[in-house]
Formats: sequence, structure tokens, C-alpha cells
Amino acid sequence: MLIEMRNIRKVYEQGDSTCEALAGIDLKISQGESVAIMGPSGSGKSTLLNIMGCIDRATEGEYYFDGKEVNDYSDGERAKLRNEYLGFVLQDFALIERYTVKENVILPLKYSKKIKKEAREARIDEVLKLVGIEEKKEQSVLKLSGGQRQRVAIARALVNEAEVLLCDEPTGALDKATGREIVNVFEELNKKGKTIVIVTHDPDVAAECDRVIKIVDGRVE
Ligand SMILES: Nc1ncnc2c1ncn2[C@@H]1O[C@H](COP(=O)(O)OP(=O)(O)OP(=O)(O)O)[C@@H](O)[C@H]1O
Ligand SMILES: [Mg+2]
Repeated sequence: MLIEMRNIRKVYEQGDSTCEALAGIDLKISQGESVAIMGPSGSGKSTLLNIMGCIDRATEGEYYFDGKEVNDYSDGERAKLRNEYLGFVLQDFALIERYTVKENVILPLKYSKKIKKEAREARIDEVLKLVGIEEKKEQSVLKLSGGQRQRVAIARALVNEAEVLLCDEPTGALDKATGREIVNVFEELNKKGKTIVIVTHDPDVAAECDRVIKIVDGRVE
């Protein structure tokens, strides 16, 4: 099993108030699956994705990634796992606007030894081609459309040969047709063996995934 969570709880503390965002999540995701995570606003989807992506830690429970309990990892070990195995795709793309496409995509390579320096240029060309945006390589991202920006973000997520893409409402800022194109990109990547987890409010996006996990009030329904 690639991802396994057992009784994951997340409690946010703010001053003297607390919020239980996740109330005991159990789930499994296999290598190569595409999974949609759906549920009402505030149900804990982003919290769950952040814990899955080792951006945040669970308050309680067990999280096994590739058989290893990563809740117990040090911050450094978690950063390495994030950089080498996980790619993130967010609703607002999270690109650096004053950089070119290439400068954005190269960023994760600077923090990893996974791709050797002399192989970087070829790797960038490869991922840009994979997402269909190779002709924009030297352009500033400021001049790109929303769909093109999301392609850049997916290329950046993939450049370190991530096994898993974790996507939080990746089509949320796109019109229907452009969102469809981005879903097609995910489908192609999934066919090539990538594991894809997509938080989405859009039933059409979810319908393209192998499986839907529904979250309500911090629990799997
Ligand atoms: N950093 C935080 N500090 C305190 N509470 C938080 C924090 N992040 C999220 N929460 C709370 O945790 C609960 C779950 O939030 P989360 O963002 O995971 O929901 P969501 O399902 O992603 O919602 P949406 O569909 O609107 O994005 C909410 O009640 C939210 O207010
Ligand atoms: Mg959210």
C-alpha cells in the first residue's frame, strides 16, 4: 500500500479555542490509483491533503507512506520525502510571477540531488513536453493563461519524478473547458503510472477518477 492512514485526527488550537478538522480518518490509496476527495466546505479536505503531503502533522493517528510511519519522521526527513516523492498542484497555481516557465519548473531541482546537474535541462524539456507547454519555456508566467499556468505548476510538481501528485482544487480557478484539459493531463499522467489525489468540488472531475473518497465533518463517509 502506498498511502495508509489509521485514525488520523487533526486539532487546530487557536488561543483557547480548538477546532477538530479531522476526527479519525481511515483510508488506503494504492500505487497508480487516481482518487478524488470530495465533501462540503470546511469538512477537512485541505487539512487531509496537507497531512498526506507532509506539509502538516496529524495530532493523532498513524500515517504510513510506502510502509513507513512518516508522522515520526523529523522535519528534515519529511522535507526530503516531500521533495523527492510528492508533487503539489494548487488552485491558485502558486507560481513565481516574475520568473519564466523554466525558472519556475527548475526550482524543486535546486533542493534535491535526485536529478544530476547535467541532466536538468533535458528533464525540464521532458516535463514541459509531458504537459504540452514546451514552446513557452522561456516566457514569463505573467503572460500565460490560467490553463497554461496550471500546466507549469504540474510540470514543476513532476520535475523531481514525484510518484504522487496531490492536487487541491486544481481546476477551481479555471473555466469548464480549461479545467477539462487539465483533467486530461492528469489522466495521461495516471496512465503513465502516477498516483493522483485530487480534492475537488466538481463532480465531473471526480467522475474521471478511479474512486471517490467523501469527507464529511472530518470523517470518511
Ligand atoms: N490553520 C488553521 N487554523 C485553525 N483552523 C483551521 C486551519 N486550517 C483549517 N482550519 C479549520 O479546519 C476545518 C477544515 O478546514 P479545511 O481547510 O481542511 O476544509 P476544506 O474541506 O478544505 O474546505 P474548502 O472546501 O472550503 O476548501 C475548518 O473548520 C477550518 O476552519
Ligand atoms: Mg480546502
